[in-house]
Amino acid sequence: MDLLCPVCKEILIKDINRYHCVNGHSFDIAKEGYLNLNLKSSVKTGDEKEMIRARKAFLEKGCYLFLRDRLNEIIDELHPESLIDLGCGEGYYTKSFNVKDKIGIDLSKEALRLASRNDKSTQYVLKTIFDVPLADKSTDLIITIFAPVSKEISRLLKNDGYFILVRPDERHLYELKEAVYESPYLNEIEEVPVEGMKLIREFKINSKSRLSNEELTDLFKMTPYYHKTSAEDFAKLSKTDELEVSFSFIISLYKKISLYKKI
Ligand SMILES: C[S@@+](CC[C@H](N)C(=O)[O-])C[C@H]1O[C@@H](n2cnc3c(N)ncnc32)[C@H](O)[C@@H]1O
Repeated sequence: MDLLCPVCKEILIKDINRYHCVNGHSFDIAKEGYLNLNLKSSVKTGDEKEMIRARKAFLEKGCYLFLRDRLNEIIDELHPESLIDLGCGEGYYTKSFNVKDKIGIDLSKEALRLASRNDKSTQYVLKTIFDVPLADKSTDLIITIFAPVSKEISRLLKNDGYFILVRPDERHLYELKEAVYESPYLNEIEEVPVEGMKLIREFKINSKSRLSNEELTDLFKMTPYYHKTSAEDFAKLSKTDELEVSFSFIISLYKKISLYKKI
C-alpha cells in the first residue's frame, strides 16, 4: 500500500530513516519504526500512557486470546493481501494477522512505540483514523477493534473489500461493573451503520476468566469506564481480591457495496 504525503497527497517514497514526496515534504521514521504523519501535534493524541501500560499488561495475560484467534480464523477465510487496522493501539491484534501488507494507524505515540518495537511485519503510522493518508481503493480489508468507526472505510477499500468491526456485547465486563457501581447496567447494543458498506455476518463470542486484583485493576484502567468513574467507586475495586469476569464480543463483517454490477 502506498502512503500519501499528508501535505500534498503525493505518494511517499521510503528512504533509510524517512519518507519523502516529490514536493520535498519529509517525515522521519521514529527509532522504534513508526512513521509520524500527524501534522497537528496539538490535537488529541489518543490513549495515554497509564491506559496503554494497563492494556498491554492485561492483554499479555491471554484473556482475549480467544478473540484474537477467532479474528484470525475470519481473516484467513477472506484471503486478504492487504489490511489496515484503524485504531490499532499497541498492535496486539495487528501483529498476529497473517497478511502480507499491513498498516496500523493510531493517534497515540506511546501505543505506536510499543507496537513498532514488537512487530516488524506492520508499518505503524501516527495519524487520525478520520483522515487516512492512503489512496482510494488501497486495501482488501480494514479492521477496527474497540475504536471509533471512521468515515474513510468505503473510500479506502478496493471493490468487494471487507470491514471487520469488533465491539463489546451486552454482558461484557458485567461483574466488573457490579463490583464498582451501585446500579450496573448492560451495554446497549445497536447495529452500527457504516457508510458505503453492507453488514453481511455477525459473530458473538464469549468467555470467562477468574482475575486477580491486579488484573482487575489493569482491565478497568484500559476501558472507557476509567475516565467516567469517581475515585470513590474506583476504590471499591481494591477490596475485590478475585472475581470471575465475562468477556463478550460482537464481530461484525461488512462488505463494500459495489456501485456497478458485474456482468
Ligand atoms: C480501546 S483502544 C483499542 C486499541 C486496539 N484496537 C486494541 O483493541 O488493543 C482505542 C484506540 O483507538 C485510538 N484512537 C482513538 N481515537 C482515534 C483517532 N481519532 N485516530 C486514531 N486513533 C484513535 C486510541 O489511541 C486507542 O489506541
